[in-house]
Amino acid sequence: MMLAIVGVMGALAQQVPQVINVMSRQAVSLNGDWHYIVDVQEEGYYDYRMNPTRWGFFNNAKPQRPEDLIEYDFDAAPTMHVPGDWNTQDERLFFYEGTVWFQRYFTIENGELKIDNDASRSQIVNCKSSNRKLLYFGAVNYDCHVYVNGKKAGHHVGGFTPFNFDVTDLLHKGKNFVIVKVDNKRSASAVPTQIFDWWNYGGITRDVLLVSMPETYIENYSLPLTPSKGRGKEREIAFSTQLSQAVAGQSITVSIPELRLKQTFVTDTNGRVCALLKVPAKKLTLWCPENPKRYQVEISLNDNDDVLTDSIGFRTIETRGKQILLNGNPIFLKGICLHEEKPNGGGRANSAEDARTLLTWAKELGCNFVRLAHYPHNEYMVREAERMGILVWSEIPCYWTIDWKNEATYQNAQQQLTDMIRRDYNRANVIIWSIANETPHSAERDTFLGRLARYARTQDSTRLISMAMEVTGASNYVNRLNDNMNQYVDVVSFNQYVGWYRDVNDAPKMRWEIPYDKPVIISEFGGGAKYGLHGAKNQRWTEEFQENLYRENLAMLDKIDGLAGTTPWILKDFRSPRRVLTGIQDYYNMKGLVSDKGERKKAWYVLKEWYEGK
Ligand code: GCU
Repeated sequence: MMLAIVGVMGALAQQVPQVINVMSRQAVSLNGDWHYIVDVQEEGYYDYRMNPTRWGFFNNAKPQRPEDLIEYDFDAAPTMHVPGDWNTQDERLFFYEGTVWFQRYFTIENGELKIDNDASRSQIVNCKSSNRKLLYFGAVNYDCHVYVNGKKAGHHVGGFTPFNFDVTDLLHKGKNFVIVKVDNKRSASAVPTQIFDWWNYGGITRDVLLVSMPETYIENYSLPLTPSKGRGKEREIAFSTQLSQAVAGQSITVSIPELRLKQTFVTDTNGRVCALLKVPAKKLTLWCPENPKRYQVEISLNDNDDVLTDSIGFRTIETRGKQILLNGNPIFLKGICLHEEKPNGGGRANSAEDARTLLTWAKELGCNFVRLAHYPHNEYMVREAERMGILVWSEIPCYWTIDWKNEATYQNAQQQLTDMIRRDYNRANVIIWSIANETPHSAERDTFLGRLARYARTQDSTRLISMAMEVTGASNYVNRLNDNMNQYVDVVSFNQYVGWYRDVNDAPKMRWEIPYDKPVIISEFGGGAKYGLHGAKNQRWTEEFQENLYRENLAMLDKIDGLAGTTPWILKDFRSPRRVLTGIQDYYNMKGLVSDKGERKKAWYVLKEWYEGK
């Protein structure tokens, strides 16, 4: 899909489909220190009549004559690190929600892309002038306008998925500059909507890359393993590739050296290849948590016009009645929820190192599964989990009271779903796409989410669809799950807070009626505790209270028929503007099993022991 955008000064830029597997692409990282200007009233975008102005900050203007009036100067402005959020990098912006402008330079010399004003980190990429140049963002929260050399490159909405613009025609030899207007203001029609229980970290929160692509390139590819047909001698991999142009007759070679597989196909008139690759079953090691085997895969176009490599695991995931089957075998998902947040008050997580820290904590807890709440986390998190043998539930932020009747809101949600599935389609560890969390029952909601669930299946028929439901009301300790959305999901998941928002003493008496012949995941349960605060088990906020709550809940959940997994809320205490109890919460949701510093609370050991028994 090509979207032509006429720039302020006339040059053209295009939003092109998200580049997948960008980590294996030829690219210069634009990460580093970017200048920023806080623009509360969007002076840099609108004139005093609130009309978009052509003299905006995107021009990066400088006075040409002594009398010239330019009331901003990026080069004199402070800098902050990208990727990162502004809330934890400038204490004046801790609570800030609004517009901040970012600016940085790079140089093109003799066909080479070079990062300047940071000699120690200069990077050079040879970029054949014939190449396309895509400006790629891992994510920007929330609403951003991107300019290159004063010309509009594009606009993107949504804080947790990648996007890129073809800026080839906006670049020139010598010094170039990128300017990004970022606005993280919340609104009723947005996704997520106005209220949510996590910190609204603003900024260019993930990697920024200038990617050099051949004129025609491999735009997308997938290699899911098809379900096995009994004890066949062979397994089949459904290989497909899409080129960036609809050109026929192009040769595509796929090779998996370890499986002695190398085959060449020719694209059809749509620039597409679809074929079944056959491999001897006994030669294929299937990906699973105990053995997260990945194979080196190489896909090349013609005579290496374009070459992509990836590490891919092969596995199947399906349900049978109330069981979840991984590679045909029932599995219990020993999970935990987590937010994409660094420990030690560090703000948005955005690196492989952050991912390893959080996922190692989950592994130490005995987990083989994580629910990445409530939005797509960065690619490092998903790939590190794949490498470490941790299964993933990935979710889009249709959270609480979304504007169900608003078509633009629906298109926004669907785009986030498209981009989430597209980025992580080839990750063996991702098994569940979740389309929502704790949404109020209504016909409008059912229509919106039903449509989204059906759409998800058109994007990926190889994975399970779910959402975090709620049990509304219990009579006589009987909790009956009754949600119209059950018909659209493969796994029935719900959040329950017996012991926190409901009395813990009810737990032994509780019965759960889940009238659907589908696997059940308890996608949230838990309670708060301040690490180091001790007291009686009925004293809220003490570790003993949380420990007891876990004991009672796990005993209660063990009685649920069809229980196939749990993801307690939550691995680590995390920031939330909704948690204001001074001396206890101090803007942290304290339901973590570890503190923000990674200190284990007593309940941690209760869950670990339970998972050892699973
Ligand atoms: C909800 C919600 C979470 C929230 C949690 C809580 O269930 O899904 O986002 O943080 O409850 O209240 O702590």
